[in-house]
Formats: sequence, C-alpha cells, structure tokens
Amino acid sequence: MSIFRQFFYKNRKFYDDDFDWENYTADSYHRRLKGDVESQYLTIAKPGDLSFDAGSGKLVTATRPVHPNHGLILEMIGRLQPDSVHEAGCGGGDHVANAQLVFPDIPISGGDRGETQLKLAVQRHPELAGKLGVQDITMPYSTQWPEVDMVYSQAVVMHIHTAVSHFVALANMVRQARKYVLLVENQQCHNFVDDIRALHAGGHLAWEAMNIYLAEGSTGARAALLSRDVLDLPELTSDAQLRAGIKPSQRRLKRAAEDSARGLFGFGGF
Ligand SMILES: C[S@@+](CC[C@H](N)C(=O)[O-])C[C@H]1O[C@@H](n2cnc3c(N)ncnc32)[C@H](O)[C@@H]1O
Repeated sequence: MSIFRQFFYKNRKFYDDDFDWENYTADSYHRRLKGDVESQYLTIAKPGDLSFDAGSGKLVTATRPVHPNHGLILEMIGRLQPDSVHEAGCGGGDHVANAQLVFPDIPISGGDRGETQLKLAVQRHPELAGKLGVQDITMPYSTQWPEVDMVYSQAVVMHIHTAVSHFVALANMVRQARKYVLLVENQQCHNFVDDIRALHAGGHLAWEAMNIYLAEGSTGARAALLSRDVLDLPELTSDAQLRAGIKPSQRRLKRAAEDSARGLFGFGGF
C-alpha cells in the first residue's frame, strides 16, 4: 500500500454508537433522567397514578403527566393487548415498571447491554428484580432472550451506528417478537421504514409478512409499529411519512443515509 493510501486508510471513518454504554449511566443517563425527565414528567408511578381507558385507547394520568413517548408505549400495549412484552434497552426500567403497574396481567421484561443501567433499574424499581437481563440486541440472536408477543424500544436503536449493528438490532427485535415491534425512536436517526423494508425484502427477518404502521399516542408521540398481521392503522410506506412535521436535521439525515448504505441485503446473483 502506498504511503498516501496508508494515510487515508489510517484516517478512515470509524462508525460508532453515540455513547460509551459501559459508562453511560455515570456519564450522563442518571443526570439526564433526574434533570430533564423527572423535572417535567412522572417517571416512577405509584398505584393509582396511571390507568388505561380501553374505550378511548388513552392513558389516564391522575397526578403528573408522563413523557409523550412513555404514554405512547403504554397506550400501544393497552390497545394491542399482547400476551407478553419486552423492552430492548430498558435503561433505568421506568417503562417496564410502569407498564407492569398499569397491566398487571401481562408479563413484561427488559434487557439492556449495560449492567450499570440495569443496577439503576433495580434501584429505582426493586420490584423489577428477576424481570431484567443483560442483553446486547446487536449480538447474534440468543434463544435465552424472552420470546414475547411485543418488543419495543425507546431511544435505543437511534443511538446505534456501529457498522451494520442497527440492522442486526432490528432483525433481532423482530425475531424476538411473535406479533409486534414498536420503535419509539428519533425518526431522523435511521431510515427505519426503508431499512425494515430492505431487511424484509432481503430475507433477513423472521416474519414472512411485514406490515409497517404509524402508531400515534394521545399526547403527540409518533412511532413505527411493525406488525405480522394486518391492522386497522395508517400504513407507513416511507420515512418521509414518519418524519412529517419534524424540523429536518441534515446531520442526522446524512448519517442515516450513510448507515442505510452500509447494508448488503439478501443473496444477489453473481
Ligand atoms: C437513551 S437510553 C434509553 C433507556 C430507556 N429505553 C429509556 O427510555 O429510559 C439507551 C439505552 O439503550 C441501551 N443500549 C444501547 N445499545 C444497546 C444494545 N446494543 N443492546 C441493548 N441495550 C442497548 C443503553 O445501555 C441504554 O440503557
């Protein structure tokens, strides 16, 4: 290799996740949770704080509001009524704990690659002990992961940018779920609709049928819902639909396009 080429090889772009997940809780998560989220929203619900109204499909908050994304997760569980639910990248466990409180008859588990995040989760919600596990959703699929009706993530896949890891994470979440995958993620950080369609067309997903819908919460949150069965919801055929009304971030959109471009799908004839 010429010296010129060596120079460029050494300075080649290295793709990485947004955070160092080993130190994430100490570096920023705990502070953000306390400062940004807890100052505005209910995070640790007590009996009576939250309930689901099946008639309207809305979450009812008796004390303080929850973050719109959190509300959407709870509302989608209530509307879809899965037999079992798992959160990939559950962090401090607030969604798992509150969902379990609102839906006591639905077993709900959580996985996260960060042990410190899981320790924080059990500290915040002692009742979660035994429901959580170390899980790196970008690892080859493990049959030890809970197999459930519905898998969701919130603010997880959007931060995964290492090589083709976000494709692996999406394929794993689909395989772990029998019926639904809810992606409550920043919609500009990946081309979620296009990437899922490409994975499906390339034969990378465990479901033969893949329907992608827009899931909307009663307080404004939007997310992509993947479903094995046809549902009576607005269908998503493009990322532009999912991003409607959001101020474009050129930096995020460019990185999403670069991430998508690294995918090699299927087994092309040669
Ligand atoms: C921004 S936090 C969100 C935590 C939680 N979902 C919430 O909404 O409060 C992102 C979480 O994703 C976890 N995470 C990142 N990459 C992961 C992976 N490959 N597998 C499992 N969890 C992951 C991190 O450890 C962290 O707890």
